[in-house]
Amino acid sequence: MTRKSALIYVMEKAARKAARGLLRDFGEVEQLQVSKKGPANFVTTADLRTERLLVESLREARPDFGFLLEEGADIAPRDGRSRWIIDPLDGTTNFLHGIPHFAVSIALEQDQELIAGLILEPLRDELFWAERGVGAFLNSRRLRVSARGRLNQAVIATGIPHLGRPASTRWRAELDRLMPRVAGIRRFGTASLDLAYVAAGRYEAFWEHGLSAWDVAAGIVLVQEAGGLVSDLDDRQTMLMTGDIVAANDQLHRPLLEHLNAAAPAPDETA
Ligand code: IPD
Ligand code: CA
Ligand code: CA
Repeated sequence: MTRKSALIYVMEKAARKAARGLLRDFGEVEQLQVSKKGPANFVTTADLRTERLLVESLREARPDFGFLLEEGADIAPRDGRSRWIIDPLDGTTNFLHGIPHFAVSIALEQDQELIAGLILEPLRDELFWAERGVGAFLNSRRLRVSARGRLNQAVIATGIPHLGRPASTRWRAELDRLMPRVAGIRRFGTASLDLAYVAAGRYEAFWEHGLSAWDVAAGIVLVQEAGGLVSDLDDRQTMLMTGDIVAANDQLHRPLLEHLNAAAPAPDETA
Protein backbone atom coordinates (compact mmCIF):
# COMPACT_ATOMS: atom_id res chain seq x y z
CA MET A 1 0.00 0.00 0.00
CA THR A 2 1.31 3.46 -0.92
CA ARG A 3 1.75 5.80 2.02
CA LYS A 4 0.32 9.26 1.63
CA SER A 5 2.94 12.00 1.41
CA ALA A 6 3.04 14.95 3.81
CA LEU A 7 1.47 17.05 1.07
CA ILE A 8 -1.53 14.74 0.68
CA TYR A 9 -1.96 14.68 4.46
CA VAL A 10 -2.10 18.46 4.52
CA MET A 11 -4.77 18.44 1.80
CA GLU A 12 -6.75 15.66 3.46
CA LYS A 13 -6.74 17.35 6.84
CA ALA A 14 -8.03 20.60 5.35
CA ALA A 15 -10.72 18.83 3.30
CA ARG A 16 -11.95 16.72 6.24
CA LYS A 17 -12.21 19.73 8.51
CA ALA A 18 -14.17 21.64 5.85
CA ALA A 19 -16.39 18.64 5.13
CA ARG A 20 -17.50 18.33 8.77
CA GLY A 21 -19.25 21.69 8.49
CA LEU A 22 -20.71 20.81 5.10
CA LEU A 23 -22.20 17.60 6.45
CA ARG A 24 -23.88 19.48 9.28
CA ASP A 25 -25.18 22.06 6.82
CA PHE A 26 -26.46 19.39 4.45
CA GLY A 27 -28.61 17.96 7.21
CA GLU A 28 -30.03 21.43 7.76
CA VAL A 29 -30.59 22.00 4.04
CA GLU A 30 -32.66 18.82 3.80
CA GLN A 31 -34.98 20.34 6.43
CA LEU A 32 -35.09 23.71 4.68
CA GLN A 33 -36.45 22.27 1.39
CA VAL A 34 -39.99 22.66 2.59
CA SER A 35 -39.62 26.08 4.16
CA LYS A 36 -40.89 29.14 2.18
CA LYS A 37 -37.58 30.96 2.48
CA GLY A 38 -35.69 27.99 1.03
CA PRO A 39 -32.05 27.17 1.70
CA ALA A 40 -30.34 29.52 -0.84
CA ASN A 41 -28.84 32.06 1.58
CA PHE A 42 -27.91 29.36 4.00
CA VAL A 43 -25.99 27.49 1.27
CA THR A 44 -24.14 30.61 0.14
CA THR A 45 -22.99 31.14 3.73
CA ALA A 46 -21.93 27.48 4.02
CA ASP A 47 -19.97 27.77 0.77
CA LEU A 48 -18.09 30.88 1.86
CA ARG A 49 -17.38 29.51 5.32
CA THR A 50 -16.04 26.25 3.85
CA GLU A 51 -13.68 28.15 1.57
CA ARG A 52 -12.42 30.30 4.46
CA LEU A 53 -11.75 27.17 6.52
CA LEU A 54 -9.81 25.58 3.66
CA VAL A 55 -7.69 28.68 3.14
CA GLU A 56 -6.97 28.89 6.86
CA SER A 57 -5.84 25.25 7.16
CA LEU A 58 -3.78 25.21 3.98
CA ARG A 59 -2.16 28.53 4.80
CA GLU A 60 -1.15 27.35 8.22
CA ALA A 61 0.53 24.28 6.70
CA ARG A 62 2.07 25.98 3.63
CA PRO A 63 2.31 29.74 4.29
CA ASP A 64 4.11 30.50 1.03
CA PHE A 65 1.56 29.04 -1.34
CA GLY A 66 -1.01 31.15 -3.19
CA PHE A 67 -4.67 30.43 -3.96
CA LEU A 68 -7.06 30.37 -6.89
CA LEU A 69 -10.48 30.33 -5.28
CA GLU A 70 -13.99 30.04 -6.59
CA GLU A 71 -15.47 32.47 -4.10
CA GLY A 72 -12.67 34.75 -2.87
CA ALA A 73 -10.06 36.85 -4.68
CA ASP A 74 -6.84 35.21 -5.85
CA ILE A 75 -3.94 35.20 -3.38
CA ALA A 76 -0.50 35.47 -5.00
CA PRO A 77 2.08 32.84 -3.96
CA ARG A 78 4.96 34.15 -1.89
CA ASP A 79 7.21 31.43 -3.28
CA GLY A 80 6.31 32.55 -6.84
CA ARG A 81 5.47 29.02 -7.99
CA SER A 82 2.83 27.19 -5.95
CA ARG A 83 -0.90 27.73 -5.73
CA TRP A 84 -3.88 25.82 -4.44
CA ILE A 85 -6.88 25.63 -6.77
CA ILE A 86 -10.00 25.15 -4.67
CA ASP A 87 -13.69 24.47 -5.09
CA PRO A 88 -15.03 24.43 -1.52
CA LEU A 89 -18.38 22.97 -2.56
CA ASP A 90 -18.66 21.38 -5.97
CA GLY A 91 -22.22 20.36 -6.77
CA THR A 92 -23.89 23.38 -5.19
CA THR A 93 -27.17 22.81 -7.02
CA ASN A 94 -27.30 19.25 -5.69
CA PHE A 95 -26.48 20.46 -2.18
CA LEU A 96 -29.13 23.17 -2.37
CA HIS A 97 -31.78 20.65 -3.38
CA GLY A 98 -30.81 18.07 -0.79
CA ILE A 99 -29.37 15.72 -3.44
CA PRO A 100 -26.57 13.71 -1.82
CA HIS A 101 -23.82 14.19 -4.41
CA PHE A 102 -21.27 16.96 -3.78
CA ALA A 103 -17.59 17.30 -2.94
CA VAL A 104 -14.70 19.40 -1.72
CA SER A 105 -11.97 19.70 -4.35
CA ILE A 106 -8.36 20.81 -3.83
CA ALA A 107 -5.52 20.80 -6.36
CA LEU A 108 -1.93 21.96 -6.12
CA GLU A 109 -0.24 23.58 -9.09
CA GLN A 110 3.50 24.18 -9.06
CA ASP A 111 5.39 25.91 -11.87
CA GLN A 112 2.21 25.77 -13.92
CA GLU A 113 1.95 22.00 -13.57
CA LEU A 114 -0.80 20.25 -11.62
CA ILE A 115 1.01 18.02 -9.19
CA ALA A 116 -1.65 16.82 -6.74
CA GLY A 117 -5.43 16.55 -6.53
CA LEU A 118 -7.80 15.54 -3.74
CA ILE A 119 -11.58 15.25 -3.92
CA LEU A 120 -13.58 14.34 -0.83
CA GLU A 121 -17.15 13.08 -1.14
CA PRO A 122 -18.10 13.30 2.51
CA LEU A 123 -21.44 11.46 2.47
CA ARG A 124 -19.92 8.18 1.31
CA ASP A 125 -16.59 9.02 2.90
CA GLU A 126 -14.84 8.57 -0.43
CA LEU A 127 -11.47 10.27 -0.55
CA PHE A 128 -10.07 10.39 -4.07
CA TRP A 129 -6.48 11.57 -4.20
CA ALA A 130 -3.57 11.56 -6.60
CA GLU A 131 -0.04 12.82 -6.72
CA ARG A 132 1.98 13.21 -9.89
CA GLY A 133 4.20 10.17 -10.39
CA VAL A 134 2.75 8.35 -7.38
CA GLY A 135 -0.66 7.20 -8.63
CA ALA A 136 -4.35 7.73 -8.00
CA PHE A 137 -6.25 6.28 -5.04
CA LEU A 138 -9.71 5.93 -3.54
CA ASN A 139 -9.10 5.85 0.21
CA SER A 140 -6.26 3.31 0.24
CA ARG A 141 -7.13 1.47 -2.98
CA ARG A 142 -5.13 2.16 -6.12
CA LEU A 143 -7.24 3.42 -9.02
CA ARG A 144 -7.08 2.49 -12.65
CA VAL A 145 -9.36 3.72 -15.44
CA SER A 146 -11.77 1.16 -16.87
CA ALA A 147 -10.67 -1.36 -19.47
CA ARG A 148 -13.82 -1.08 -21.60
CA GLY A 149 -12.53 -0.24 -25.05
CA ARG A 150 -15.74 -0.02 -27.07
CA LEU A 151 -18.08 2.95 -27.11
CA ASN A 152 -21.11 0.69 -27.08
CA GLN A 153 -19.99 -0.56 -23.64
CA ALA A 154 -19.28 2.90 -22.29
CA VAL A 155 -21.12 4.91 -19.66
CA ILE A 156 -20.26 8.56 -20.20
CA ALA A 157 -20.90 11.51 -17.93
CA THR A 158 -21.47 15.06 -19.10
CA GLY A 159 -22.63 18.46 -17.92
CA ILE A 160 -25.78 19.92 -19.44
CA PRO A 161 -25.38 23.63 -20.16
CA HIS A 162 -28.07 25.33 -18.09
CA LEU A 163 -29.26 28.81 -17.15
CA GLY A 164 -26.81 31.39 -18.42
CA ARG A 165 -24.36 28.88 -19.91
CA PRO A 166 -23.19 29.09 -23.54
CA ALA A 167 -22.53 26.16 -25.93
CA SER A 168 -25.96 24.55 -25.67
CA THR A 169 -26.36 24.12 -29.45
CA ARG A 170 -23.03 22.42 -29.66
CA TRP A 171 -23.71 20.23 -26.63
CA ARG A 172 -27.05 19.08 -28.08
CA ALA A 173 -25.36 18.09 -31.35
CA GLU A 174 -22.74 16.16 -29.36
CA LEU A 175 -25.42 14.40 -27.35
CA ASP A 176 -27.35 13.46 -30.50
CA ARG A 177 -24.22 11.97 -31.97
CA LEU A 178 -23.20 10.01 -28.86
CA MET A 179 -26.56 8.83 -27.52
CA PRO A 180 -27.13 6.04 -30.04
CA ARG A 181 -23.51 4.89 -29.77
CA VAL A 182 -22.98 4.43 -26.03
CA ALA A 183 -24.35 2.24 -23.23
CA GLY A 184 -25.46 5.20 -21.10
CA ILE A 185 -25.11 8.91 -20.43
CA ARG A 186 -25.18 10.43 -16.94
CA ARG A 187 -25.52 13.96 -15.57
CA PHE A 188 -24.71 13.87 -11.87
CA GLY A 189 -23.95 17.58 -11.42
CA THR A 190 -20.54 17.55 -9.73
CA ALA A 191 -17.71 17.88 -12.25
CA SER A 192 -14.93 17.01 -9.79
CA LEU A 193 -16.67 13.72 -8.97
CA ASP A 194 -17.34 13.05 -12.66
CA LEU A 195 -13.58 13.09 -13.16
CA ALA A 196 -12.91 11.08 -10.00
CA TYR A 197 -15.37 8.45 -11.27
CA VAL A 198 -13.51 8.23 -14.60
CA ALA A 199 -10.31 7.67 -12.61
CA ALA A 200 -12.09 4.97 -10.60
CA GLY A 201 -13.31 3.17 -13.74
CA ARG A 202 -16.97 3.85 -12.90
CA TYR A 203 -17.49 5.96 -16.02
CA GLU A 204 -15.51 5.34 -19.17
CA ALA A 205 -15.47 9.05 -19.97
CA PHE A 206 -16.66 12.56 -19.15
CA TRP A 207 -16.99 15.70 -21.22
CA GLU A 208 -18.25 19.18 -20.47
CA HIS A 209 -17.92 22.73 -21.80
CA GLY A 210 -17.34 25.98 -19.98
CA LEU A 211 -16.07 24.71 -16.63
CA SER A 212 -13.76 26.67 -14.35
CA ALA A 213 -10.25 25.70 -13.27
CA TRP A 214 -11.45 24.78 -9.74
CA ASP A 215 -14.05 22.34 -11.15
CA VAL A 216 -11.43 20.24 -12.94
CA ALA A 217 -7.91 20.82 -11.58
CA ALA A 218 -7.92 18.04 -8.95
CA GLY A 219 -9.80 15.61 -11.19
CA ILE A 220 -7.33 16.03 -14.04
CA VAL A 221 -4.48 14.72 -11.87
CA LEU A 222 -6.68 11.82 -10.75
CA VAL A 223 -7.59 10.72 -14.28
CA GLN A 224 -4.03 11.05 -15.55
CA GLU A 225 -2.53 9.17 -12.61
CA ALA A 226 -5.13 6.42 -13.09
CA GLY A 227 -3.87 5.91 -16.64
CA GLY A 228 -6.55 7.94 -18.44
CA LEU A 229 -6.26 10.82 -20.88
CA VAL A 230 -7.53 14.37 -20.49
CA SER A 231 -7.58 17.17 -23.05
CA ASP A 232 -9.72 19.94 -24.46
CA LEU A 233 -11.76 19.28 -27.62
CA ASP A 234 -8.73 19.93 -29.84
CA ASP A 235 -6.66 17.40 -27.94
CA ARG A 236 -4.60 20.15 -26.35
CA GLN A 237 -3.80 20.78 -22.69
CA THR A 238 -5.70 24.05 -22.31
CA MET A 239 -8.48 22.72 -20.05
CA LEU A 240 -7.83 25.16 -17.20
CA MET A 241 -8.03 28.13 -19.59
CA THR A 242 -10.87 27.07 -21.90
CA GLY A 243 -12.94 25.10 -19.39
CA ASP A 244 -13.64 22.50 -22.09
CA ILE A 245 -12.71 19.02 -21.01
CA VAL A 246 -12.75 15.49 -22.41
CA ALA A 247 -11.51 12.81 -20.02
CA ALA A 248 -11.57 9.12 -20.80
CA ASN A 249 -9.84 5.84 -20.43
CA ASP A 250 -6.85 5.43 -22.71
CA GLN A 251 -8.80 3.48 -25.35
CA LEU A 252 -11.83 5.71 -25.65
CA HIS A 253 -10.32 9.18 -25.53
CA ARG A 254 -9.51 9.28 -29.27
CA PRO A 255 -12.86 7.91 -30.56
CA LEU A 256 -14.75 10.21 -28.19
CA LEU A 257 -12.84 13.27 -29.42
CA GLU A 258 -13.56 12.27 -33.00
CA HIS A 259 -17.29 11.98 -32.38
CA LEU A 260 -17.43 15.25 -30.43
CA ASN A 261 -15.65 17.06 -33.23
CA ALA A 262 -17.78 15.44 -35.92
CA ALA A 263 -20.85 16.69 -34.06
CA ALA A 264 -19.68 20.30 -33.80
CA PRO A 265 -22.01 22.66 -35.69
CA ALA A 266 -20.56 25.43 -37.88
CA PRO A 267 -19.13 28.31 -35.74
CA ASP A 268 -22.01 30.70 -36.54
CA GLU A 269 -24.50 28.16 -35.19
CA THR A 270 -22.98 28.04 -31.72
CA ALA A 271 -25.20 29.77 -29.22
C1 IPD B 1 -20.74 23.05 -11.03
C2 IPD B 1 -20.69 21.53 -11.06
C3 IPD B 1 -21.47 20.98 -12.23
C4 IPD B 1 -21.05 21.59 -13.54
C5 IPD B 1 -21.14 23.10 -13.46
C6 IPD B 1 -20.26 23.60 -12.31
P1 IPD B 1 -20.57 24.29 -8.65
O1 IPD B 1 -19.94 23.57 -9.99
O2 IPD B 1 -19.37 21.06 -11.12
O3 IPD B 1 -21.32 19.59 -12.35
O4 IPD B 1 -21.89 21.13 -14.57
O5 IPD B 1 -20.76 23.65 -14.66
O6 IPD B 1 -20.31 25.02 -12.26
O7 IPD B 1 -21.21 25.57 -9.11
O8 IPD B 1 -21.52 23.35 -8.07
O9 IPD B 1 -19.35 24.53 -7.81
CA1 CA C 1 -17.68 23.70 -9.15
CA1 CA D 1 -18.52 25.52 -6.01
